[in-house]
Amino acid sequence: MLAGAAVRLRPVKADDLDWLVAACGKPSAFGEFEPFFVGEAESLKRRFEQDGLLSEDLTRFVVEDRSGRRVGLAGVDDVDLHSRVARITATILEPAERGKGLGTDAHRVLVSYLFLHRGLLRIEAFVAAGNVAARGVLKRLGFVEEGTLRSRVFAHGQRHDVVVLGLLYEDWSRRSVASLAI
Ligand SMILES: CC(C)(COP(=O)(O)OP(=O)(O)OC[C@H]1O[C@@H](n2cnc3c(N)ncnc32)[C@H](O)[C@@H]1OP(=O)(O)O)[C@@H](O)C(=O)NCCC(=O)NCCS
Repeated sequence: MLAGAAVRLRPVKADDLDWLVAACGKPSAFGEFEPFFVGEAESLKRRFEQDGLLSEDLTRFVVEDRSGRRVGLAGVDDVDLHSRVARITATILEPAERGKGLGTDAHRVLVSYLFLHRGLLRIEAFVAAGNVAARGVLKRLGFVEEGTLRSRVFAHGQRHDVVVLGLLYEDWSRRSVASLAI
């Protein structure tokens, strides 16, 4: 269990699967700008049966609010232990639950866990270029926009650019020390 100020992240359990498939299957779940995640739910169910969604290349956590209600899905992909890099995602699945600080806290919790407990030195996120909310959340946590993968995904009948954001341990730890000093 990973605890933040507003959310907790915990491994997926068997009795989450029906909720997960239903919640992730809604077109609203991943927002207007991340539609390429739609359809992921069924494959998550298959992966759960293989490894509980806790493997090196793909980990998924249920995001709960402080009352223990399931509000989202967070993940770590493509952990590269040699280069000490991984990619993160976090989604607040119900649009009505967005804008309450939960998405920012879920990303913050993942970042702290990966830097402090997994010893990573760089964390990445790939976000559809039009996803202004996600880009804002990540930049507020210190991520830097490093470039654009042009025409990277096909969704809604058209191709979309994807922005690559990166956060280095050295920059994050400097920011953390500075915020403690205030
Ligand atoms: C991106 C996402 C995770 C943010 O979660 P959240 O709980 O809504 O985020 P927070 O409440 O912590 O912060 C939202 C911020 O985005 C801003 N925001 C929301 N919608 C916005 C929009 N359309 N344009 C610009 N900013 C927007 C809010 O104003 C807020 O900033 P503020 O605190 O400065 O006012 C959530 O919107 C989501 O799940 N989106 C769909 C899927 C997705 O994009 N996943 C991320 C992939 S990395």
